[in-house]
Amino acid sequence: MDQDFQDLKGTALREIDEAPEVIELDKLRVKYLGRTGLVSKLSEGMKDLPKEERPRMGKLLNELRTTLNSAFETKNDFFSARADISAVQDLDETLPATPLRIGALHPLTRLQDRAVQILRRLGFALASGPDIETEWHCFDALNTPPDHPARNESDTFYFPDGHLLRTHTSTVQIRTMLAQTPPVRVISPGAAYRRDEIDATHLSQFNQLEGLYVSKGVSVPDLKGTLEYFVRELLGSTVETRMRPHFFPFTEPSYEIDVRMPGVNAGRWMELLGCGMVDPAVFEQINERRGDNAYDPEVWTGFAFGMGLDRLAMTLFNLPDIRLLIENDQRFLAQFAS
Ligand code: DAH
Repeated sequence: MDQDFQDLKGTALREIDEAPEVIELDKLRVKYLGRTGLVSKLSEGMKDLPKEERPRMGKLLNELRTTLNSAFETKNDFFSARADISAVQDLDETLPATPLRIGALHPLTRLQDRAVQILRRLGFALASGPDIETEWHCFDALNTPPDHPARNESDTFYFPDGHLLRTHTSTVQIRTMLAQTPPVRVISPGAAYRRDEIDATHLSQFNQLEGLYVSKGVSVPDLKGTLEYFVRELLGSTVETRMRPHFFPFTEPSYEIDVRMPGVNAGRWMELLGCGMVDPAVFEQINERRGDNAYDPEVWTGFAFGMGLDRLAMTLFNLPDIRLLIENDQRFLAQFAS
């Protein structure tokens, strides 16, 4: 057995040394050290040895395993080092490096951040609410009657339990007034959802920015002055604005503000935001739910506004298709990195 042992060790070490590639080395590992490999076979011969021989052979076998293991390891290290060297062999370190791509904020995020910053300077605080809402917060509290078209299943995403995906961020007006007493001055950027067919100008999830100001003696001139200032700060001093009467269930009177900028959208008027004086009916819904008269319409008045950010981004950045904003195409987004 001593002889077998010496032969096996000699052959194994030689074969390991001569293995040309990792694959052959792996095969040798199985051949010698595998569960049914040659070393295991050799140790099976132990049982035929006289008892007093066994400890010595046991020790030799263990040493053999250790020797082979370290021979495999050495050869493996050799292969790794060889691979490393060949990887850099043809490297020309005088060539310019691949430029690192530095991330940037999404154009919509930048637009939203700018809008939020301007309004924060005017004293508006950030508020938020859930995307999944009750019908009450989204419609009833906002004085929107049950037969209003916006409540239709074809316009709004409803859950089987009657909850819905908010169709506008005006829900945050309601949540804010339930949670705090006047005066209130909040803005709330966030997602809104409508059951629209997605095309070049429609998404079923889009972004709005809502505002609410409730205090004593707030009137239409406050609304006009605040929003005109906001629009000029956001779009530049050359922007022209116009205020058109409109209808929203939750404001009375209500308006839409249009803007026109030289060179943008061929200088045409575009609708920017909806706004108006908070309808006393909304204050009454709030008082009823709160169980107090904190928003007494005889004492408090307010204005609210809401604008869509995606369409504005489309116009400002001259985008042919609104879907560019959600496709995450690097070639598109990289144009806005600076
Ligand atoms: N919620 C309206 C919409 O989604 C926008 C809006 C209009 C919000 C008038 C307001 C407002 O707060 O006073 O079209």
